[in-house]
Amino acid sequence: MSIQQHRKDEHVSLATQQYIDQPETDFDAISFVHHSLPNIDVSEVSLATEFADMDFDVPIYINGMTGGSPKTAKINEELAIVARETGLAMAAGSVSAALKHSDVAESYTIIRKMNPNGKIFANLGAEHSVENGKRAVDLLQADALQIHVNVPQELIMPEGERRFATWLSSIENMVSQVGVPVIVKEVGFGMSRKTIQQLLNIGVKTIDISGRGGTNFAAIENSRRKHHDFYFAENWGQSTPISLIEAYNQSGACDILASGGIRTSLDMIKAFALGAHACGLSGQFLHLIQEEGVDETIMTVNRWEEQLKIIMTLLGAKRLTELKKTDVILRDPIKTWCEARHID
Ligand code: FNR
Repeated sequence: MSIQQHRKDEHVSLATQQYIDQPETDFDAISFVHHSLPNIDVSEVSLATEFADMDFDVPIYINGMTGGSPKTAKINEELAIVARETGLAMAAGSVSAALKHSDVAESYTIIRKMNPNGKIFANLGAEHSVENGKRAVDLLQADALQIHVNVPQELIMPEGERRFATWLSSIENMVSQVGVPVIVKEVGFGMSRKTIQQLLNIGVKTIDISGRGGTNFAAIENSRRKHHDFYFAENWGQSTPISLIEAYNQSGACDILASGGIRTSLDMIKAFALGAHACGLSGQFLHLIQEEGVDETIMTVNRWEEQLKIIMTLLGAKRLTELKKTDVILRDPIKTWCEARHID
């Protein structure tokens, strides 16, 4: 097994372990004010959404995770079946391994094979050329390309990237030339107002703020080596709710997606109330598929859909966008962050 294959398997097992240990998240610091008369019927509620120039019936997607080894091929295969049966969009993990080594391509292309008509996103790092972007899209016949920005993770990895000066211009080229919608995403460190503005300035239209609170890649990379020198990075970054708040005022100019620590339908509703168009889940799907299997994961997605409609009815919202008008109470640490950043 190559070093890269080993790393992919280690990421999966460490992320799975981390899932079990997770504490409270900033989603717990958000409450809705209850109003007794919602004035709508459950049957009027729609979960439809749009982002990256596409329409979706359900505002949930399986976020970029894996591929590149036999073990991760099986995970991709099973997740692709879940996506097919539930109509969810699904992102592959970074396909850069498949661009370098054609023998691992099948661990990614299995996603398209299992789900010929579904919405699938390819995934690459920000350093890649437009040519690689086109190869990644072709490989999966992808409907969109996720570009991940993961500076803390790269810096912790001894073999990681050290050159970031050209990332923004490289993303700009990708957006204008790759030929499919580009989704720029973090990997669990969240985003700031400044980052979102920088991305808007170069023409990015869809941004997944992927915040802290779920899978923690600083902790994963630290635990892969003997000396945990980068322990400080484990608390680095903005949580998912705080990142959504940072994005809130710019969200008219682009489609904001939420990911990072999302596990329940109520977390999703809170993300929609803070302006998200859809929610991406990685750690939760990894846990479900490995612990519960395909059928139970499909049933869980179906339950989430039911629950989303019920909670939206409670809040009097027929459409996801109406959730932005609900009365929300923000407690600490979100409240203090908003005061410090002068956000009302
Ligand atoms: C990831 N994530 C990720 N993201 C990305 O853009 N490309 C990638 O290759 C990977 N690889 C990867 C492997 C594994 C095992 C996990 C669990 C996650 C990050 C992922 O898309 C997401 O941004 C974070 O995991 C935060 O979401 P959750 O896991 O808290 O729902």
